[in-house]
Amino acid sequence: FGYVNFLVDKTRGEIMDNLLEGLQRLEYRGYDSSGIAIDGDNKNETIIVKVPGKVKVLKQKIIDENVERSTVFDNHVGIAHTRWATHGQPMVENCHPHRSDPTGEFVIVHNGIITNYRALKTLLVSKGFKFESETDSECIAKLFKHIYDTNLKAGISSDLNELTKQVLYELEGSYGLLVRSTHYPGEVCGTRKGSPLLVGVKTERKLKVDFVDVEFPDQEPVVNHNAAAKNELGLLPVAAGESNLRTSQSRAFLSDDNIPMPVEFFLSSDPASVIQHTKKVLFLEDDDIAHIYDGELHIHRANKKNAGESTIRQIQTLEMELNEIMKGPYKHFMQKEIFEQPDSTFNTMRGRIDFDTNTITLGGLKSWLPIVRRCRRIIMIACGTSYHSCLATRSIFEELTEIPVSVELASDFLDRRSPVFRDDTCVFVSQSGETADSILALQYCLERGALTVGIVNSVGSSMSRQTHCGVHINAGPEIGVASTKAYTSQYIALVMFALSLSNDSVSKLPRHKEIIQGLQRIPEQIKKVLLLEDKIKELCDTKLANQKSMLLLGRGYQFATALEGALKIKEISYMHSEGVLAGELKHGVLALVDDKLPIIAFATKDSLFPKVMSAFEQVTARDGRPIVICNEGDEIISSDKVLATLEVPETVDCLQGLLNVIPLQLMSYWLAVNKGEDVDFPRNLAKSVTVE
Ligand code: G6P
Repeated sequence: FGYVNFLVDKTRGEIMDNLLEGLQRLEYRGYDSSGIAIDGDNKNETIIVKVPGKVKVLKQKIIDENVERSTVFDNHVGIAHTRWATHGQPMVENCHPHRSDPTGEFVIVHNGIITNYRALKTLLVSKGFKFESETDSECIAKLFKHIYDTNLKAGISSDLNELTKQVLYELEGSYGLLVRSTHYPGEVCGTRKGSPLLVGVKTERKLKVDFVDVEFPDQEPVVNHNAAAKNELGLLPVAAGESNLRTSQSRAFLSDDNIPMPVEFFLSSDPASVIQHTKKVLFLEDDDIAHIYDGELHIHRANKKNAGESTIRQIQTLEMELNEIMKGPYKHFMQKEIFEQPDSTFNTMRGRIDFDTNTITLGGLKSWLPIVRRCRRIIMIACGTSYHSCLATRSIFEELTEIPVSVELASDFLDRRSPVFRDDTCVFVSQSGETADSILALQYCLERGALTVGIVNSVGSSMSRQTHCGVHINAGPEIGVASTKAYTSQYIALVMFALSLSNDSVSKLPRHKEIIQGLQRIPEQIKKVLLLEDKIKELCDTKLANQKSMLLLGRGYQFATALEGALKIKEISYMHSEGVLAGELKHGVLALVDDKLPIIAFATKDSLFPKVMSAFEQVTARDGRPIVICNEGDEIISSDKVLATLEVPETVDCLQGLLNVIPLQLMSYWLAVNKGEDVDFPRNLAKSVTVE
């Protein structure tokens, strides 16, 4: 998160409060450690405060260290970071911001991974740099200083944008990066590759470039890197005469009449952290460098523009509202998001389904449907909970479209270098739209010429911009690390996609009608399921308290529910739990069953119900006493053979998973709360995993 004020007086205290508030909104994305960098009173001094731990610990440290608050700045750049550790444990040395040297000439914050950091570190150590951390990120700060000094020795004073280009040329890996420097007071560069970054703009005055597209010059990179330079790990200075270029064509934002005007900029990896200040944002593309100075935002390209690449950047207006990212009366975001599902599922369908005519219109897909219908197969690709939503809907896709569907975990799909063809349709499902494994898989499929479809929650995310077409699930911001409402909305969006694909088939009309009518009832039925909370809470307080492990049995449509339920439970309550395909029970897992192991079994009515009953028998014959999730009024099994029953309303077979998953969401929530776990910030996890 970065904050820039220009011709707007701010005290250091206000600047720090802005940075801390921004960080707090980003915290759900990573919370091992946090830190800020701001100007000292002396021009050549940078104050860095960082701590292992959450933003509230950082706030306390700032108070304890008595960081002076009253100095007023009319132009200032502050940068800040919350971390999810990849290289190096969460300890103070490894926290961001990282600095080039003890005086903090160059200070950076970085998301992502620099894969060639060892080589860079070796080079920089040989040049006399002393590293303070075990992170890959620190080499970026040192590299800035090294290139700056090298340029200076050659008599060249480089512009911060040019310097950033030179640094990026040496980096391999992924980054969302901010850099500030005592050599460039009031300036900041932000750049991204494989990790999101946006710029929010706030000004009282009318904008001259009022959210108009910005054309990029089709220019060669200014820095002349040649092979020889790269052999020695680059670091060639900018050729004399080529420095200090501030390309005016790339100016995205400037004053009404070229008179400098008061403005504030917010750089962030997440729109949720800027909307309390402004809704006007510009999402950067990979290899963009946003250079902010003198109250202007300039966008440059790190590399020569590739053929076919978009040269347009647009300032957009976010539709998100502040109350969507506040907890309201709830104790945790996860609880709020579970209880939002009657609304979020409705919003996924709103304006898209006409329940009178039983028709569906998905604007982002409409014109692409004929191509998808002709494809040889559909490959669904995702991670975590999003992967489970694909598993949950695969069978209805196959039934309705009669196109073979495979479901892939993005990382495994890439590991196998799975063959992809031009006549494949690859469907990417992601809440954040930024998960690195899924984005890499998307690029892999794009390179092979497949049609790509995005089923994404975050508007403006990399995935929603890089896919050919798609559907926003419109669940609203999801902050809880354990995904809940995104799952049910992804599920519905995928069902709507399958229905749209097959709406040209007359023989499928009755099934269509049945599913669409079922969808209409879902929000109300979810409300009913949520009434089970007290019963589930009591189960968690009593029969499930202090248990170490749990099995979840399901088959057919409910196998995905079993996997998703097990994931929820392990993610936040840290209880080992396993989703098992009921048909596979007898092939191994049955060995675990005794009268103590908690088991959840899905026994809602569908065509596989008799087979589910046989799994019951196998369990109860071994003294297992499952908790049964069944339909209202069903007498599944005699009460002495079950630990409890949780009754949910009945719906169409392919939609039943939408209702069955909710008791599991509630169960995981209450198991975690009872153990005193930090529900919204489960240990070792992060909401959006932007590293491979
Ligand atoms: C992380 C989150 C999960 C999420 C997964 C995929 O692991 O903790 O809740 O399901 O990433 O995220 P995506 O944003 O791609 O759906």
